[in-house]
Amino acid sequence: MRDPVPMDGPLRASSGAAPRGVVEVPGDKSISHRALMLGALAHGQTKITGLLEGDDVLHTAAAMRALGADIEVDEGRAGADDTPTPVWSVTGIGGHARPERDGDLRLYFGNAGTGVRLTLGLIAGLGLGARFDGDGSLRGRPMGRILAPLRQMGLVATTEDDKLPITVNVREEGALPAIDYTLPVASAQVKSAVLLAGLNSKGTTRITEPVPSRDHTENMLIAFGATLARSEKPGGGREITLEGGQALNGCTVVVPGDPSSAAFLVVLGLIAKDAEITVKTVLLNPLRTGLFETLREMGGDLTIADVRIQNGEQVGTITARSSALRGVDVPASRAPSMIDEYPILAVAAAFASGRTHMAGIGEMRVKESDRIAATEAGLRANGVRCESGPDWLAVEGSASPNGGGLVSTHHDHRIAMAFLVMGCAAVNPVHVDSGAMIATSFPDFCTLMNRLGATIEAA
Ligand code: S3P
Repeated sequence: MRDPVPMDGPLRASSGAAPRGVVEVPGDKSISHRALMLGALAHGQTKITGLLEGDDVLHTAAAMRALGADIEVDEGRAGADDTPTPVWSVTGIGGHARPERDGDLRLYFGNAGTGVRLTLGLIAGLGLGARFDGDGSLRGRPMGRILAPLRQMGLVATTEDDKLPITVNVREEGALPAIDYTLPVASAQVKSAVLLAGLNSKGTTRITEPVPSRDHTENMLIAFGATLARSEKPGGGREITLEGGQALNGCTVVVPGDPSSAAFLVVLGLIAKDAEITVKTVLLNPLRTGLFETLREMGGDLTIADVRIQNGEQVGTITARSSALRGVDVPASRAPSMIDEYPILAVAAAFASGRTHMAGIGEMRVKESDRIAATEAGLRANGVRCESGPDWLAVEGSASPNGGGLVSTHHDHRIAMAFLVMGCAAVNPVHVDSGAMIATSFPDFCTLMNRLGATIEAA
């Protein structure tokens, strides 16, 4: 194994040995945030293994501690393969927050959009006052989509332009009344914020989602003992109802590998020569697997084995082998199930013969960066022809893209990782301006890639 790569500065990725091997990726980010939050709200203790120890999730852990949850980590003993399994223990507040600094709760979320948005819902339900803030990138992201339903419930929040920092007032009048809410955008973050607020509200929360988004909050609320009803709507939507005033009970959570992180290794396995990469214990919730479906349509040699249910979620092992990819049309309906995966899909498309058209991806513009713009600029810098519109991106691929470019990551972890993968298979090395943000979701990305035979180093 090579030395760990210093990730805070510019990085260079170049092609070399054929990447081969069997790996596991860090825990799913969405499930990790939720496990800490529900554990913090619950009565008794929650034990979490496989938690993603990335910066985003650590900010959520700090926020839950500030609410009065007791969170400890036992680093675990090294097992057969020498890797210790940390166990996170969360002793919840049992519905009654005991903020460490009464009346002056300051919650800082760094780059974590999921952390801040879900915690806004959670705090609204508890009736606490708090000031929410994040880093420069998070301060630029829209929070109005979360504040709209919460304000409809009666939350009083002060903000400029519906952006961070946001100050939420203490609520003296008791629990918020529940609402019926139809999601205007397919967003699991909005849905989850309303559910977390609804958990401690008066009455029945009813959420209609015209297009289903990831359902980890619903699955996990049930695992923590809440009663929740789900039904399919004509046309493919879903309705979720939740009675307010339910108590949660601590439980055991085993966090599976993050498919959004596995995505980088899977695409490397498809686009690099003589590659074969296996990623074990990946979350395969059908609302998260749009990328794998698309890569198969592109002719990708992907096998999925050992599929089973672990802790209420489907998991399995994915193997990707070098493939001759061809361009496809990716329908808009698939966007919610792969919204974070389009940058790496665009890299796969750069190695595919013909044109790949990705429709209905306007939400990419409000992620950690404007990901349509950042992906397009990165591809062009590496000699790949592409074009975009307000909510679409099209890429003209070739069997051996040139590479050789310097990519501006705009402090976005997924842009950095996508283009480092590109550099591992392109004709010339690819540089990214900084790898610092990779630690938000995949702290050992470079080490793991290099262990597989990739060459990523400080530039
Ligand atoms: C997430 C939902 C998605 C996704 C984000 C994580 C979640 O955002 O992009 O990385 O954990 O709920 P939206 O629900 O806003 O699309």
